[in-house]
Amino acid sequence: EILHFLSDPQYQSSTETKENSWQYFKDGLLVIDSNGQVQSCGEAEALLKALPADAQITKHPNCLITPGFIDTHIHFPQCEIIASYGEQLLEWLETYTFPAESNFSDPEYAAEIARFFLDQLLSNGTTTALVFGTVHPQSVDAFFTEAQQRNLRMICGKVMMDRHAPDYLLDTPETSYSESKQLIEKWHNKDRLRYAVTPRFAPTSTPEQLEAAGRLLKEFPDVHFQTHLSENKKECEWVHDLFPERKNYLDVYDHYDLLGKRSVFAHGIHLDDGEWQRLAETDSSISYCPRSNLFIGSGLFNLHKAQQHKVKVGLGTDVAGGDSFSILQTINEAYKIQQLQDQSLSAFQSLYMATLGGAKTLDLDDNIGNFEQGKEADFVVMDYQATPLLKFKIEQCTTFEERLFSLLMLGDDRCVKETYIMGKKYYG
Ligand code: GUN
Ligand code: FE
Repeated sequence: EILHFLSDPQYQSSTETKENSWQYFKDGLLVIDSNGQVQSCGEAEALLKALPADAQITKHPNCLITPGFIDTHIHFPQCEIIASYGEQLLEWLETYTFPAESNFSDPEYAAEIARFFLDQLLSNGTTTALVFGTVHPQSVDAFFTEAQQRNLRMICGKVMMDRHAPDYLLDTPETSYSESKQLIEKWHNKDRLRYAVTPRFAPTSTPEQLEAAGRLLKEFPDVHFQTHLSENKKECEWVHDLFPERKNYLDVYDHYDLLGKRSVFAHGIHLDDGEWQRLAETDSSISYCPRSNLFIGSGLFNLHKAQQHKVKVGLGTDVAGGDSFSILQTINEAYKIQQLQDQSLSAFQSLYMATLGGAKTLDLDDNIGNFEQGKEADFVVMDYQATPLLKFKIEQCTTFEERLFSLLMLGDDRCVKETYIMGKKYYG
């Protein structure tokens, strides 16, 4: 089976048009050309006839093929503090995060963790991510070096942080500007790599540093931007105290011209209507990180609000505030968070957010996110029979939607049979 999306299922009203937002092929065939791009996708019976005689065919019975997952918020230097006990955001940063990130001044350690991190992503079916480094430019060099060797489409940036963290992790407005600029010139648009300007969050940047971030976005108009926004109540109060002249949390970033179609704000749990409206007006995106929001006790994200305001939403694991690399397990938690708010998150909507929706939040939907002709063939093969429970459950399902929902709820990395990058098998 093959499933991919052509548009967002939420904006369709009737059942009939709803089906036009995705394509499902029961006995599907994905045809990939020698450049690793999608040539065609459809029912096998029709497409097989048009294949050249020497075409190589790989079969995946009892499997679902979808575009590779897109993780729109994750921290590669936080691998070692995954599943850390007992703290909420601000104490969690002090107790666990900052000490762990200090290790990334060592380029060899950074390279070792980057390799582990990318192996984790690929074994979970994630083929693209928007990734935080640390304040050390060598962390980003290490990450991009490893990602480039694997021919991955990845976005990463050096953390900008010039206050309210231990001295050993601070830069300055000037060094954060010049180091980010050097990294952009070195890595942005090299092969499949892209750069994101990355102030950690408003409390750890001075106004001068946020101004420097804005200057980088003006000088390099096609780079990305990522930060955290309105995750935790104490954090929100702190931002209010630090920037009393700004009308709300988002306005701090807005004031420095940091909003836009390549800007991704992680979390956005405690936003007012004015902030939602401003996100929509500027075509900015939210990265929804349900597992992290539960694990470090931040709150319940209101997806319905984002949808009402037509704000683009991607999914993020937020390792290591989040306790899993698995987008399937992340969708499982998103489903429960919506249940707690009397919202039902459909199988199609959640897989959309994990694929084409994520690509749109990263402004990469011309390159990845679905199987339209010419897209880069990054995809994942999931096995409906990977575990005894899933196999048992799938046997009870009568429709494709039921099978998909079961896979999303019960699945994890055990279901990821193979992961392909530009048409080449990378994992499995
Ligand atoms: N806010 C500022 N820094 C961080 C971080 O590293 N993780 C999360 N989840 N939130 C943050
Ligand atoms: Fe985060």
